[in-house]
Amino acid sequence: MGKTAQKRLIRKLELELFLSQMEFQPSPKASLEQYTVSEAIAAKMLYLAAYTNGDIVGKKVLDLGCGTGRLALAASYLGAQFVVGVDIDKTAIKTASENSKKAGFKTDVQWVLADIGAVTGSFDTVLQNPPFGVQKRTADRKFLEKALEVSDVVYSLHNHPSTDKKLIQRLRSDSGGLLQVEPSPFIARFVESHSGVVKAVYAMLMTIPRMFDFHTKLKHDFVVDLYLIKKRKL
Ligand SMILES: C[S@@+](CC[C@H](N)C(=O)[O-])C[C@H]1O[C@@H](n2cnc3c(N)ncnc32)[C@H](O)[C@@H]1O
Repeated sequence: MGKTAQKRLIRKLELELFLSQMEFQPSPKASLEQYTVSEAIAAKMLYLAAYTNGDIVGKKVLDLGCGTGRLALAASYLGAQFVVGVDIDKTAIKTASENSKKAGFKTDVQWVLADIGAVTGSFDTVLQNPPFGVQKRTADRKFLEKALEVSDVVYSLHNHPSTDKKLIQRLRSDSGGLLQVEPSPFIARFVESHSGVVKAVYAMLMTIPRMFDFHTKLKHDFVVDLYLIKKRKL
């Protein structure tokens, strides 16, 4: 599928439709912050990476904390050379593997059940939607550290630092473009101390269905920031 896919430009809506057919995590664990990235955010992220920046088609891609595999599968669908998805949770990896069978991929998507700390090797691009640290503070830092260890290019989703109602309104009426915002000083400093540079940050509105007991509404809207990070050239 990936080899065929990379010959043509895939429309964002087609990618969203493809992702909407994938199964969710059957029993998501709040302690691992196992919420699934929305189709809309995954498609925007992959579009930017693939077609604006040339970081997916024909590349070796790693999805850290892959969950049910949406980011990895989207990379494969757009024509990555091979993709590895890593997650610490057995059910997540089982669901991801079932999702890739359902998608009928011929390109290699390897699913690895492991803590991201065990990952070694070298990849062209890392995609990640790490735990934001709501349950365990700074849980996303370990992901940034590993991503910069194994790759020069990282696309990473993080919690937007404030609940900015005006920003939410702007994103709700968004016509599909990317809204650039300032990086969090904490993340920017952390990235710099690990030989990286934050190249851009884009705010996006994530909508997820009610998943955990502490979600009070049927749908939960919040702002996420997509960080484009590159390794500093020495
Ligand atoms: C916010 S979810 C994102 C899932 C998926 N990438 C997505 O966007 O739909 C974070 C994922 O990271 C996984 N995770 C958390 N800590 C981990 C660790 N130390 N090593 C590997 N995976 C981890 C969780 O099990 C969960 O599936």
